[in-house]
Amino acid sequence: MKRTTATHITRPTTTTPMEPIDTLLTRRTVRKYAQTPIPQEKIDKILEAGRQSPSAVNRQPWHFILITDQSLKDRLGNGIFNRHIRKSAFTIIGTYTTHDKISKRWGLVDTTIALQTMAIAAHLQDIGTCWIGDYNEQKLRETLNIPETTSIAALITFGTPQNTPAPKKKKPLNQILHTNTW
Ligand SMILES: Cc1cc2nc3c(=O)[nH]c(=O)nc-3n(C[C@H](O)[C@H](O)[C@H](O)COP(=O)(O)O)c2cc1C
Repeated sequence: MKRTTATHITRPTTTTPMEPIDTLLTRRTVRKYAQTPIPQEKIDKILEAGRQSPSAVNRQPWHFILITDQSLKDRLGNGIFNRHIRKSAFTIIGTYTTHDKISKRWGLVDTTIALQTMAIAAHLQDIGTCWIGDYNEQKLRETLNIPETTSIAALITFGTPQNTPAPKKKKPLNQILHTNTW
């Protein structure tokens, strides 16, 4: 069977609508943002996509911090690999509580799913995103008043793409897929 891969699919220049699955396969990390405001309805859809995400035993252990304030973005975006926080329209920090055994075991997975669902919801609305693992946990806690009982999963920046980044080289399926047994 001939397989197509995401790297072969790019956004068309025509106005022909893409199939949702092909749109999904054009997702790339976007680090350069045009300073165009994002309509509130689009932001609401992104947040709703996170809120509706699956979680183990439906515990929904997540708390999201939406950063829109420019001075906060400037303070958070002072690392080597996170400077694009500054130019993002907004940045979301995914955190989760670990009050019970289920959330301790699955909170990170739950919150990661919710964050990536938000990233996909953004992409489907022509908003670019970048995951950020480059942050100083203690500084983030202090700056945003995150309680010690709450863990941080990661950050994602959101903004209107200034460019269409080239697809990253991905491992071929035959190196990563094992069918029925390893
Ligand atoms: C958990 C995680 C942490 C990441 N941290 C950063 C980061 O701190 N800064 C950054 O510029 N990109 C970061 N990235 C983006 C990756 O570099 C990017 O996803 C990877 O190069 C593949 O590119 P693609 O998303 O376009 O397929 C991170 C991605 C993930 C999933």
